[in-house]
Amino acid sequence: MAKYRSLLLGCGPRAKQHVAVYREIDNMEMVAVCDLQQDRREAFLKEFGVPKAYDDYEKALAAEKPDVVHVVTQPGRREWEMETAAKAGVKAAIVEKPMAIIPSDIEKLARIHRDTGIKIIVNCQRRYFPQFRDGTIRDIVENKIGKLYLVRASAKGNTMGMGPHLMDLLMLFLGEAKPEAAWAMAYGINEEGYQATHRAPEHILAEYWFPDDIRVIFDCDTDALGTPGEESFWMHLHFDFLGSEGRLYLTQNKGYWYQSHGMAEPVRGESSWDNQGFGGQRDFTKAVGEWLDGGEPHLNRFEVGKAVFDALIGAQASVYYGKKIDLPCDFSDEQWTELREQLKKNG
Ligand SMILES: NC(=O)c1ccc[n+]([C@@H]2O[C@H](COP(=O)([O-])OP(=O)(O)OC[C@H]3O[C@@H](n4cnc5c(N)ncnc54)[C@H](O)[C@@H]3O)[C@@H](O)[C@H]2O)c1
Repeated sequence: MAKYRSLLLGCGPRAKQHVAVYREIDNMEMVAVCDLQQDRREAFLKEFGVPKAYDDYEKALAAEKPDVVHVVTQPGRREWEMETAAKAGVKAAIVEKPMAIIPSDIEKLARIHRDTGIKIIVNCQRRYFPQFRDGTIRDIVENKIGKLYLVRASAKGNTMGMGPHLMDLLMLFLGEAKPEAAWAMAYGINEEGYQATHRAPEHILAEYWFPDDIRVIFDCDTDALGTPGEESFWMHLHFDFLGSEGRLYLTQNKGYWYQSHGMAEPVRGESSWDNQGFGGQRDFTKAVGEWLDGGEPHLNRFEVGKAVFDALIGAQASVYYGKKIDLPCDFSDEQWTELREQLKKNG
């Protein structure tokens, strides 16, 4: 088994979870970190015992020649971050969500992926929580509640903040199905803090048409109806699946249950960010090394992340056109900007 050398770009709060899991990974090692901010770099050396720190990404790549980079920065420069890695010979780039913001971002990444062969893996790590990874939830959706006809998917963060996680899991549970049409409404643009980089309407309510007559009500919205009893905004990742014979209720941190006709009691199972967050990130990361060793393709490979982005941006396109649209559809950067200006004017 090869031992792959990893470099971390971006030593913010999220990156701590990327580095912490290395203590339980034996096919990869974190050889260096890179951040523009000295205090952040130094904190990582001290807290995690990473051997080296850099303030310049290109210099770090040239000096360390890593096999893997973790790109844990805010979105906005993904093309440069990926292209620079590919030119330096990096084999796999783990990139935090959202992978893209505006329509052309994803086409640029697709070009880099195609032309250089670099593996791009989007950090939607929940796919590696045991009940999601082993197909338990997919099996309930497909086989235990009759014919699925409606899903309510909701998160209390905007489409580029929590939306990638919500859509990623939805597509996993639907067997990687892609939506065929969308109709959405939206309002609210916030240009401060986190929202200044995760640029998307703050409130989107979308209806998606998936194959086999499955409708999805997708509420990605700071006011969304989340999971009762949760406090942090990002804990409200929530799904209700309604089938002709039963129902599945699935939360991010308070378990799941399903019940179908004839069952006296619901069947309950674990779904817990608190218990599964660390292991999910560890197994997600380990799977990158295993893929490099010739193992299974990663569950969050580029094509999967692109399908998620295409579905999310499709809702914004529907808002722009003001009607139900077939997907995929044409939606340019100029139209995206026009929509944003319009939503700003509407307040
Ligand atoms: N997958 C998840 O569950 C999850 C959870 C939280 C956040 N995130 C995502 O993680 C990403 C990062 O979030 P964060 O809160 O840690 O961000 P942050 O802005 O606090 O940290 C990013 C760091 O990157 C550094 N940086 C940026 N460009 C650089 C460059 N060119 N060279 C060197 N350093 C550079 C900055 O100095 C900063 O310290 C976001 O995209 C966010 O959406 C994902």
